[in-house]
Amino acid sequence: MIRALLFDMDGVLADSEGISLDIGIAYFASIGVHADRTSFSSAIGCGERTFFDKTASLLGLSGPPYCYDDASAFFRKEYTERIKNLSISLPGAGIVRAAHERGILTALCSSAPEWKVFANIEAAGLERSDFDFIATGKDIKRNKPEKDIYALALIALGVDASEAVVFEDAAGGIESGKRAGCRVVSMETTIGKEEAERAGADAVIKDLSSIPSFHDSGELESFLFAKSLPPKRYGAVMIKPCGKGCSENILIEEARKAWEHGYAPYSGFRVGAALVSAATGRIYSGCNVENSSYGATICAERNAITTAVANEGAVGIDTIVVYSDDDPPAPPCAVCLQVLSEFSSPDTSVVLVTPNTEPVRYKFSQLLPMPFIFPTMR
Ligand code: THU
Repeated sequence: MIRALLFDMDGVLADSEGISLDIGIAYFASIGVHADRTSFSSAIGCGERTFFDKTASLLGLSGPPYCYDDASAFFRKEYTERIKNLSISLPGAGIVRAAHERGILTALCSSAPEWKVFANIEAAGLERSDFDFIATGKDIKRNKPEKDIYALALIALGVDASEAVVFEDAAGGIESGKRAGCRVVSMETTIGKEEAERAGADAVIKDLSSIPSFHDSGELESFLFAKSLPPKRYGAVMIKPCGKGCSENILIEEARKAWEHGYAPYSGFRVGAALVSAATGRIYSGCNVENSSYGATICAERNAITTAVANEGAVGIDTIVVYSDDDPPAPPCAVCLQVLSEFSSPDTSVVLVTPNTEPVRYKFSQLLPMPFIFPTMR
């Protein structure tokens, strides 16, 4: 489960690389040395010291007129001046706030100096309070591609590496996130898909705006990492499964909770049902609702299905749990089986549960071998 998102700054949330490169070129020009954007290509994204020292050495400068402290002071003065009233937000940077609001922890992990990180947060249309933790160049001795900045964020947030996703745009940053044990998503803002995958990226997206709005970390997880599976027929509908399973215990618990709400003042027989949607992995539940006019009663399974359709449109059912207090556990009635057949495949699993017995599992085709599906929908 994703509990935390760790963001690099430049090339992910904000585009300050162009400005930085121009100032780098201007600095070397000020000491009479010609540099162009390619002079910096192997030194980007690994902190300011590397940005200048490595480029200087590539340009054949090991000492005066080159001086890192002068370069750093030149950079800070120029940068602060140029960034004023400038928007450098990259598409989709709003995901930070969206995640924060949905209870997912957020951290900013940039090797840049603190003054630059704070200036960039503002210029990217964000606020410091959108992040649960901010780590900058001053907090670590060893820069990316070492794991330190991401390892520090994991400790600060109290999450395990397996629960965190790093968003990066450069090879050194991808490597850093991988070394910290996290899954890494790379943007195509700075390097291409192939280079990102060579560096170890688990997923590559165009930029953060490619991520659709999500309700919870499960939906984010399926979008970022679910292998895309071919569309599959569920009864009368074709659905693209997200490939994300759902633990049977969770489904059983949801069905049990619905069972507790069963409205059965006439029969006294409560039923709960919970199903998992193949497209999203989301769970929908329902209970039986009886009526003074007995025939108006609606079964638990049909209430679960109508809730699912109301939320997602046509659904594919991978598993449905039916919870009742019967021995042996009650199967869905024939009317419910027919309604289920509209959204089930022959191998949809139907799990029958009671408070006191072990779950009994069937394939849908065992319970209804010959469902009626309208000819044009087969
Ligand atoms: N019931 C269900 O909820 N699902 C079924 O598949 C079979 C029956 C409910 C309807 C009614 O409220 C009670 O069980 C007794 O028939």
